[in-house]
Amino acid sequence: MELIRKMPEKNTIKRRGILKGLVAGAAAVVTAPIVYVAARFLGYVSKGDSSNTSATVAFSDLTPDKPSKLIQINDEPIIVVREKDDQIRAFTATCTHLGCTVSYRPQVPDFYCKCHQGRYDVNGVNVPGTRPKLPLTELTVVDKGTDLIIQLTPKAKS
Ligand code: FES
Repeated sequence: MELIRKMPEKNTIKRRGILKGLVAGAAAVVTAPIVYVAARFLGYVSKGDSSNTSATVAFSDLTPDKPSKLIQINDEPIIVVREKDDQIRAFTATCTHLGCTVSYRPQVPDFYCKCHQGRYDVNGVNVPGTRPKLPLTELTVVDKGTDLIIQLTPKAKS
């Protein structure tokens, strides 16, 4: 009789343990994305204070057959484009919709995001009717002859 009374207590303790585990798991599932986004944001903010703010690209890397190159500065994807008139331009390559990396399509020409078919014109301006609602940022390019210095600062308006 004594044994029969203790069995329910053990089961109750087991159930409480399982319930605590489920609650802890659910809490982790809910808070993990918030912590991730906060960490990404803080990482992004701190990027401006440290390390590289520019990168070098050889002019010869951009050919009429392959007129764009994807580079990274501080983990930020940047797309460098050689236009038909040999003008070199650089843009942030992070889609302003949900953050995928855009590519350059010389045959159109435009910038294209394959995640949700987002489009930007050659000036990085988001095409109306597609998902992105903000333009890409054009960056400063300093021409050093055979090399191009791509700076992580917006191009000055002319
Ligand atoms: S992330 Fe680029 S269109 Fe949605």
